[in-house]
Amino acid sequence: MELKNVVVDKENNIGIISMNRPQALNALNSETLSDLKTACQALGDDADVGVIIITGMGEKAFVAGADIKEMKDMTPLEARRFMHFGQSVFNEVDNLPKPTIAAVNGYALGGGCELALACDMIIASEKAKFGLPEVTLGIHPGFGGTQRLPRLIGAAKAKELIFTGDMIDADEALRIGLVNKVVPPENLMDVAKALAQKILKNGLIAIRLVKSAINAGLNVPLEKGLAYEAETQGLAFATEDKNEGLEAFLEKRKPNFKGK
Ligand code: CAA
Repeated sequence: MELKNVVVDKENNIGIISMNRPQALNALNSETLSDLKTACQALGDDADVGVIIITGMGEKAFVAGADIKEMKDMTPLEARRFMHFGQSVFNEVDNLPKPTIAAVNGYALGGGCELALACDMIIASEKAKFGLPEVTLGIHPGFGGTQRLPRLIGAAKAKELIFTGDMIDADEALRIGLVNKVVPPENLMDVAKALAQKILKNGLIAIRLVKSAINAGLNVPLEKGLAYEAETQGLAFATEDKNEGLEAFLEKRKPNFKGK
């Protein structure tokens, strides 16, 4: 697939999306957001891909935010449209029917941090830096950060990060529960791929269903989330993988899931 600012690779059932606009530290202009959307749709629909990793090209940045040059002269209405577009692309990431891992190699600021937040898990290089510096520009997070960050780390810590615009390092991000794991830069992709491979051994339909149950449950009262969980579990029982998984356990052997 030929895209201008995003590179798409496939490796052993893992789809890899690399943000690639190094001259602007992979900042998200409209074109890059469109490329990301196209990449997500393609890998989301690709039956050979079970897990997706999103990373940034280059040593320095995952994504340094929404494109400040593009935003500078936007009218309020244009800015609102741009936020809706960015939010819709990140919803596309969030709702991908397969697990997603952000492999954060450097700066994940503003829209870059918000992109990582739209992924299911975040693995950070020791060199990664996170932050939502928008208020230092006189604006505020607009690609989902005001909603996803407090849901993940709690309102008080999210408000501290958003109100101060402070940048934090990977260890602090781990301490506050923003990232799952911190690894040396040279191991980042190997660790992300190993996590993907571990997930790929499991029943992928069950994972697709449980991802939708977890995501839906974050936004509704407990009762509704539980009702949804029972529905998705019911669906899991309609799969061949369920027969294989339960039989394999009882026969004391490893299951051989087919994703059916
Ligand atoms: N938008 C557009 N261009 C950007 C950019 C961004 N978000 N971040 C970096 N760049 C560009 C710089 O303008 C520079 O381009 P030129 O060479 O043409 O001048 C190039 O990338 C390299 O950047 P720096 O020279 O600034 O590199 P540095 O090492 O000195 O600093 C940095 C790195 C700390 C990440 C710094 O670039 C920076 O602070 N970037 C902006 C971070 C930011 O504020 N992000 C939030 C954006 S607003 C947003 O995201 C809103 C939202 O929620 C939707």
